[in-house]
Amino acid sequence: MALLPVFLNVTSTVLHVLPSEKHSYTCQTLDFWPSEKCDYGNCSWVEMGLMDLDFEDELLNNATKMLGNESLLRVGGTLCDHVEVDTADRSTTWGSCTCPDPNDPTDPLCYFPWVGHGYPDGSFSGFGKACLPGGRFDILMDFAERNKKKLVFDLSAEFGRTLVGPTIWEGDWDSANARALFEYIKNQGKEDLFYGFELGNEVWGVKTGDAHFTPENAAKDYALLRKELDEVFGPGRMKILTLSGNWEYIFMTEFIEKYDGWDGVAWHWYPLGAGRSDEVIPNVNNENFTLTEIKERLEIVNLWQRQHGRDKELWMGETGGAFNSGQNTTTNRFMSHRWYLDQLGIFAQYKHDAYCRQTLIGGNYGLLQRTNGENSINPDFWGTVLFNSLMGEFVHDVLHSGDEKLHLYAHQNKKNETVLLAINFNRDEPIEIKNINGLFDLEVDIWKMSSPDDQSSVVFLNGNELPLTNTVDPTEMFVTKTLPVQIPAKSYAFIRFS
Ligand SMILES: *[C@@H]1O[C@H](CO)[C@@H](O)[C@H](O)[C@H]1NC(C)=O
Ligand SMILES: *[C@@H]1O[C@H](CO)[C@@H](O)[C@H](O)[C@H]1NC(C)=O
Ligand SMILES: *[C@@H]1O[C@H](CO)[C@@H](O)[C@H](O)[C@H]1NC(C)=O
Ligand SMILES: *[C@@H]1O[C@H](CO)[C@@H](O)[C@H](O)[C@H]1NC(C)=O
Ligand SMILES: *[C@@H]1O[C@H](CO)[C@@H](O)[C@H](O)[C@H]1NC(C)=O
Ligand SMILES: *[C@@H]1O[C@H](CO)[C@@H](O)[C@H](O)[C@H]1NC(C)=O
Repeated sequence: MALLPVFLNVTSTVLHVLPSEKHSYTCQTLDFWPSEKCDYGNCSWVEMGLMDLDFEDELLNNATKMLGNESLLRVGGTLCDHVEVDTADRSTTWGSCTCPDPNDPTDPLCYFPWVGHGYPDGSFSGFGKACLPGGRFDILMDFAERNKKKLVFDLSAEFGRTLVGPTIWEGDWDSANARALFEYIKNQGKEDLFYGFELGNEVWGVKTGDAHFTPENAAKDYALLRKELDEVFGPGRMKILTLSGNWEYIFMTEFIEKYDGWDGVAWHWYPLGAGRSDEVIPNVNNENFTLTEIKERLEIVNLWQRQHGRDKELWMGETGGAFNSGQNTTTNRFMSHRWYLDQLGIFAQYKHDAYCRQTLIGGNYGLLQRTNGENSINPDFWGTVLFNSLMGEFVHDVLHSGDEKLHLYAHQNKKNETVLLAINFNRDEPIEIKNINGLFDLEVDIWKMSSPDDQSSVVFLNGNELPLTNTVDPTEMFVTKTLPVQIPAKSYAFIRFS
C-alpha cells in the first residue's frame, strides 16, 4: 500500500467570499411529500414530509440546532405548487381547504390523491392539491425558531392559471393566497424567521415538468411577488430567490432583462442521475465527475452571472445527488460525502452563496432518516455540521502536488485560520500531507472521518464512533498534531491551522 506524499499551498487568491452576514452557506430542505410517496416500490418518505413529520422529536431538534445558528432551511419540492395555505384553519395535519366538500375532510381527494397511487410520476398537475393549515404552519415556525433556522418558503405558482393543453397554461399568477400567508406571518410577529421566498418549483423555462412558464410570465409574476412582499414586510426586507428549477441560461437571460427586482438564482440539479440508475455509484466514486461535468456547468453559471447578474446571488437551491428520492445505501451512507462534500467545496469556489441539501429529513438523501418510527443520523450530517462550523467565508485557491484523486478546498475565516477539506478518492492508498505552505513542522487540528464500509451508516471521527441516534458536538473532537498527517483511502478530513 503506497503512501502518497503531498505538498500543498493555499494561495492568496480569494475565489469567493461567502456572504456569512446575510445567511449560511449550508442549507437543508424540507419537502411536502406525504408518507404514501414511493419510488420503484421503496417508500422513503414515511413520516418524513413536512405534513407528517414529528417536529417534537428530540433527535430532530438537537440535530437541527447543530446545523448552525441562523442557518437556512428551505421548504419546497415538487408538491409546493399544489399547496394552498389556509391560515385560519388551526388543524395540525392536512387542512380541508382543498377538499371537494369542506365538510368531509376525510375524503381522500382532500390531499394529494395521486401520490403513491400510480398517477403519472412527476406530473405538474397530476398530484391533486392539498391544504397547509395555519396550525401546521405554526409548528414549522416554532421548530425554526427554537432551532435558530432562517426559512425560505417556496410558494405555489399555480394559482390563477388554467391548464389548457398538455403543458400549456393560461393566466397570470394570482397572489391572494401568498398575500394571506405574508399577512399571517407579519401579524404573528414572525417575520424575522424568514430569509425570503421562492415562487414555483421547476416550472420556469423549458427544462421542467408539465409547466413551461415563460420569461414574460416570470417578469410579471415576480414583480407582483416583490410588490406583495414589500407592502407587507417593507421594501426589500424579504429576499426573492428565482428559477427554483434546472439551470437555464436563455430563460434567465431573457427574464433578467425584463425584470430584475429579485435577489438570487436558486437552481436545482441532481447530477448523479435517477435514484434507480446504475450510474449513481460510479458517478459518486469517479474523481473526475466533479472536475468535468460539475465544473463545466458551474463555469456556465458563472459566465451568466458575469454577463447578466453581477448583483445576484447564486444558490444551489435543491440537490440530493440523485433524483426520485436518492438511492438507498448510497446517498444516505458514508460514500455520499464523495459527491456532497466535494460539491459543497467546488460550488463555493464557483461563487455560490448557499447550497441546499435535499433533505434535512425525507427520502434516501436526508441528513437524518426515519426507519420504523425512529430517527437516526446519516453520515452526511456530520460533514455538514463540520463544514458549516469550520469553513470560513474566504474561499482560497489551493494547489497541491497530488493527482486528481485528492480533492482539496481551503477556506479562511476572520481569525485568519485556514481550514482545508481534503477528500481522498483513492480506494486503497492513503494520502500523506507532508508540507503546507512550505512548512514541514506545521501544527494542525484535524478531524479525520472514516467508516468501516463505504455503504455503512457508521462514521468514525479520529477513530471515535459517532452515535446514530443522539448528537455529540463534533467540532470539539479534533486532534492536534504536527505534520505529516495521513488521510486514509476512501475518507476525508478537515484540517485547521493558522
Ligand atoms: C428498492 O431498492 C432496492 C435497493 O435499495 C432495490 O434493489 C429494489 O429493487 C427496490 N424496489 C423494491 C420493490 O424493493
Ligand atoms: C434501505 O436499505 C436497507 C438495507 O438494505 C433496508 O433495510 C431499508 O428498508 C431500505 N429503505 C428503504 C426506504 O428502501
Ligand atoms: C449557537 O449559539 C449559541 C449561543 O451563542 C451557542 O451556544 C451554540 O453553540 C451555537 N450553535 C452552533 C451550532 O453554532
Ligand atoms: C480521471 O482523469 C485522469 C486524467 O485525465 C485519468 O488519468 C483517470 O483515468 C480518470 N479517472 C477515471 C476514473 O476516469
Ligand atoms: C490576518 O492576516 C493579515 C495579513 O497577514 C493581517 O493584516 C491581519 O491583521 C490578520 N488578522 C487577524 C485577525 O489576525
Ligand atoms: C438532545 O440534547 C439534550 C440537551 O443537550 C440531551 O440531554 C439529549 O440527550 C439529546 N437527545 C438526543 C436524542 O440527542
